[in-house]
Amino acid sequence: MEYSVKSGIPEKQRSACVVVGVFESRRLSAAAGQLDEASGGFLTQLLRRGDMEGRLGQTLMLTNVPDTLCDRVLLVGCGREREFGDQAYNKAVAAMASALQDSGAVEAVSYLTDLPVKGRDNPWRVRTAVQTTATTLYRFDQLKSRKDTPRRPLRKLVLTVPGRRDLAPGEAAAREGQAIANGMDLTRDLGNLPGNLCTPTYLAERAEQLAAEYPALSVEVLGPKEMETHGMGALLSVARGSRQEPRLIVMRYDGGNKGDKPHALVGKGVTFDSGGISLKPAAAMDEMKYDMCGAASVFGAVRAALELELPLNLVGVIAATENLPDGNASKPGDIVTTMSGQTVEILNTDAEGRLALCDALTYTERYHEPTSVVDMATLTGACIIALGHEAHAVLGNHHPLVNELLTAGRDTGDRAWELPLWEEYQDALKSNFADMANVGGRPAGTITAACFLSRFTRKMRWAHLDIAGTAWTSGDNKGATGRPVALLTRYLIDRC
Ligand code: BES
Ligand code: MN
Ligand code: ZN
Repeated sequence: MEYSVKSGIPEKQRSACVVVGVFESRRLSAAAGQLDEASGGFLTQLLRRGDMEGRLGQTLMLTNVPDTLCDRVLLVGCGREREFGDQAYNKAVAAMASALQDSGAVEAVSYLTDLPVKGRDNPWRVRTAVQTTATTLYRFDQLKSRKDTPRRPLRKLVLTVPGRRDLAPGEAAAREGQAIANGMDLTRDLGNLPGNLCTPTYLAERAEQLAAEYPALSVEVLGPKEMETHGMGALLSVARGSRQEPRLIVMRYDGGNKGDKPHALVGKGVTFDSGGISLKPAAAMDEMKYDMCGAASVFGAVRAALELELPLNLVGVIAATENLPDGNASKPGDIVTTMSGQTVEILNTDAEGRLALCDALTYTERYHEPTSVVDMATLTGACIIALGHEAHAVLGNHHPLVNELLTAGRDTGDRAWELPLWEEYQDALKSNFADMANVGGRPAGTITAACFLSRFTRKMRWAHLDIAGTAWTSGDNKGATGRPVALLTRYLIDRC
């Protein structure tokens, strides 16, 4: 898909389709009003006849609208004008994208970006339109022998800006939206791939592929031997039960000043989480192929940074491993030594994410000395209980960093919510036999998991995103969401 911006009046657009909004009930948006006037009241007539109420998400495709230069006009319902905020705007754009994809129009000019969204300017509306269109049109059919691609898919979407002065900021916004969308698509593809194909080795190969595509990226991959040398006893303890070798994948992009410390993104890449010897129940266990979505979001954000050629230094670190039961697997009660030197009593082998991450964090601290580090992980089921599927949980040891992430989330609609990381919660991890246990019992599971990680990030500005509830959806339309790539990319752009 190609996205661009332009200004101009709707009746003069030579296009396969012009898209305009209609509010409830039967109230024309500015652009729709212009078309109506040019066409001698054609739209008003239709609305009076009752063809379109303007309910949010409703669409009506028109052909032969008099005195216009376009082949079609798509009316998109936007709901009540007074309630037209982020969520309604996204719904309207999604309805537009679906209707266009089914219409046979291969290009379109959309005036939805001219609509007044509460508290949002035109660049925001352009960026969001690109992101939401891409999200709506995404399909994962690479493993189907018969693809259900439309006969004439949408190829080009032109988004309108109010005037000529708005063209440059609009173009930048479209470029940003496109980069975020491409990053999200990569994240979704990796997340949706099943565990038999998306293994730690495969993830490492994909990183190397990305480096081949973007010469600005360099990749280093550590296998079990190197992990042994570094003393990564925790990460290795997770991989023990698997026939698949673990990989620590390091992606480095230096787009900033030489010598500037990098921003670090660290991802949990458990390519399948069976729970290990603390085996999970069978129901929905297939979803544990998504347990590498934190890693996938590192891929997505790094890709977006590369595409935007962001002027900053960035390091992405991924701890990739499977978690399976086996004669060689770690057992409850086992005690391992982490790269940091701290020992951990593994009371539950299903709390493997923190074991994989803690060594990745220590590695990041030691070899990259980042200005700040953000880790992403589908870490705890408890996070879904706390926040459901809307917000990522964010916890950290540096308030400005946490606030930067919260802000980036609000800007992009990829929202996070902070949970407390108070010292009091640390007690839950006490162990008689080692420096800490790897679980803290049922209460505040998301917080105690973050407490565990915090013991490996003391020397860094660090924040953790628990994306267990947000990285994928279940049910009929199941699949990876591409979150939190938008949040991360925004966060990185804001650091430039
Ligand atoms: N990957 C899971 C967390 C998870 C479960 C995410 C379900 C999304 C849906 C993680 O490795 C895990 O198993 N966590 C345990 C921790 C517990 C043993 C302390 C959990 O949440 O049950
Ligand atoms: Mn687990
Ligand atoms: Zn897991």
